Formats: sequence, structure tokens, C-alpha cells
Amino acid sequence: MNLKQQAALHALQYVRSGNIIGLGSGSTMTLFISALGALLKSGELSDIIAVPTSEETARQARQAGVTLATLDEHVRLDIAIDGADEVDKDLNLIKGLGRALLREKVVAIHADEFVIIVDKTKLVSQLGTRVPLPVEVVSFAVGSQIRWLNQLGCSAELWLSEEGSALLTDNGNSLVRCWFDNGIEDVEHLDSVIKSRTGIVEHGLFLDMATKVIVANETGITEMQSTR
Ligand code: 5RP
Repeated sequence: MNLKQQAALHALQYVRSGNIIGLGSGSTMTLFISALGALLKSGELSDIIAVPTSEETARQARQAGVTLATLDEHVRLDIAIDGADEVDKDLNLIKGLGRALLREKVVAIHADEFVIIVDKTKLVSQLGTRVPLPVEVVSFAVGSQIRWLNQLGCSAELWLSEEGSALLTDNGNSLVRCWFDNGIEDVEHLDSVIKSRTGIVEHGLFLDMATKVIVANETGITEMQSTR
């Protein structure tokens, strides 16, 4: 069993029959969804309703036999489970390299618990050192947003598909990736500055949101718990 799978399986113990859950996106979540489907089939779990954070997650969940709903139908979720691209010691995250950051953030703020599942490669001492920060922007005047992001001390680029066209999110927006040479110095400041820019929809900094991070490494599972 690989590390992502171990983290995914460990998280299932926090899902109870009757729960309304948020389902994140990405390869670790694919493993979680298929394990969840197996527990539903065997009857070990029942009456789970899930709100998916991407079209791909919705497809996988349907295939696994998970009942889907929207946040309009269920405004409060017992728990949301998701992966992450980077995790620091304060449980702050970079997410969104699976291109689902906006819906992931919306779902997370409706959940009583926000549980992150990662392998040890995602742990960093400073956010922005391992991966770029993804930023979702309206496609109109995307070049202007890239120029503005560049003056924040990063190297910003439009996220392109292998064919060279702009990748679009499930919401029809473009994505910009911001590379920081020495990581992000002040995540709170960057969070508020980027959020205040008209035309920028959301960014991949998830600050003070995770309630628990499940980390799989070769020696087993470690849990990082939020103190808030
Ligand atoms: C998707 C995400 C994913 O959770 C993140 O990219 C981690 O993905 P993976 O589990 O494939 O490593 O934020 O938008």
C-alpha cells in the first residue's frame, strides 16, 4: 500500500454512518473515494451524503456508489476530507494543483471538521518552497492579473495545458501559477492582498482552516491537530 493510500484509509475512521461529507479532489482523494465506496458496498458505512469539489470527484463518487448533494441542499457538513500540495507546521496549506481550489475552499468553510490527507512529501517548513501558489482568475484581462501578481515578488505564469491553451477550472476561470524563489514570507499578508484584487476569484492558500492533518510516512501515520 502506498503512502497516499495509507493516509486515505486512516481518514475513513472519522466518517460515520449518516454523515454529510465534503469530498476534495486529487489523487489522494481518488483513493479515499474508492475506499469509501467499498465500505458502503460492504455495509460498514451507510447513509453517507457527499458534496463533491470538482466534476471529476463527482464522477468518481458516483462510480463508487456515493450519494451526491449540493451545498444548497445541505449547508452544514459534518466533515470535509481533502488532499493538499503543501502543509506547514501550523496546518496552513497550499492547495489547488488539482485545479479545484475554489470549490474546495467553499466546501471546507461549510464543514465542522476539515481533515487533510497527505504523504510526508507534502510537509514543508515554509509554504511556497515546493510548489507554486495557484490563483484562480477571471479569464477577462488575465494578462493584467499576471502583471499585478508579478509585482508581489513571485514569478506568475498562465497555467497552460500540454497543447498550449489556457487551462480552465470547472468554474470556467483561468489559473495562474505563482512561483516564489524563497517561499512565501508572510502568508497572512499575501492572503489578504490577493483577495482584495478585483478579477481574482480565489487563491490556494488555506490558512487556519484545517482541523486535522493526517500524514503517512514509512513508519506509520502521524496526526497533526489544530489547536483552535
Ligand atoms: C486539488 C488539490 C489537491 O488536494 C492537491 O493538489 C493534492 O493532490 P494529490 O492528492 O493528487 O497529491 O488541492 O485542487
